[in-house]
Amino acid sequence: MGGLMYLLVLCLGIIMQINHCLSNSMIMKCLPRKHGALFIFGDSLFDNGNNNYINTTIGNQANYPPYGQTFFRYPSGRFSDGRMIPDFVAEYAKLPLLPPYLHPGHPEYIYGVNFASGGSGALSQTSQGSVIDLKTQLSYLKRVKNLFREKLGHEKTKELLSKSVYLFSVGSNDYGSLLDPNSGSLLPVDHQQFVDIVIGNLTNVIKEIYDLVEENLGCLIWVLLAAILA
Ligand SMILES: *[C@@H]1O[C@H](CO)[C@@H](O)[C@H](O)[C@H]1NC(C)=O
Ligand SMILES: *[C@@H]1O[C@H](CO)[C@@H](O)[C@H](O)[C@H]1NC(C)=O
Repeated sequence: MGGLMYLLVLCLGIIMQINHCLSNSMIMKCLPRKHGALFIFGDSLFDNGNNNYINTTIGNQANYPPYGQTFFRYPSGRFSDGRMIPDFVAEYAKLPLLPPYLHPGHPEYIYGVNFASGGSGALSQTSQGSVIDLKTQLSYLKRVKNLFREKLGHEKTKELLSKSVYLFSVGSNDYGSLLDPNSGSLLPVDHQQFVDIVIGNLTNVIKEIYDLVEENLGCLIWVLLAAILA
């Protein structure tokens, strides 16, 4: 845990130093060289409202009271009565609160964006059909990259993505699904094989992000419940 905190502090150093001339159209021109963004992946520990915009079950959504009552004063879709880890990370990095990716009307994502979806896991079978699985979250990052390339060009996109922080909370729903008699039978393997599959899929996503960023991956943090539980 101490190591994680150290890493977090180190990573936040990378994305701090932002100035505030972003509302005009020449977005990147006034960003200092150190500008990086924050990209959030994972499950209900990080979802800040994406599941509001998908067809899912009420158990996978948090858009009703008493959620949200102590800070936002409305149920934003966070599985919390207040802010959550990504909100505090953004705050300490002097970034604005990130939008959920599926929220309409945030075309820039210049400070980053949140792709997390409550109920999701590293495996596409986990809560299949009622969540945005990790691979789909990855495909959203690819879309954001394309958007950046259209607006900023190749070099600046590369620079921005390589200075960004990628924060994950993944794994507990995969393991939790084993307790659910309806979904546990999807993968007829023993516990160690199941752990290997979860870690294998997560590793693939991390590798793809590494390729997407092209080089100099700034910082990648796993709040890796999978590894702890395994
Ligand atoms: C939403 O999901 C339910 C249950 O799976 C299904 O019956 C319904 O048609 C879906 N609605 C839309 C708009 O896709
Ligand atoms: C990823 O998960 C699928 C099941 O969704 C599994 O068949 C596959 O072997 C896993 N991949 C790795 C690299 O572990």
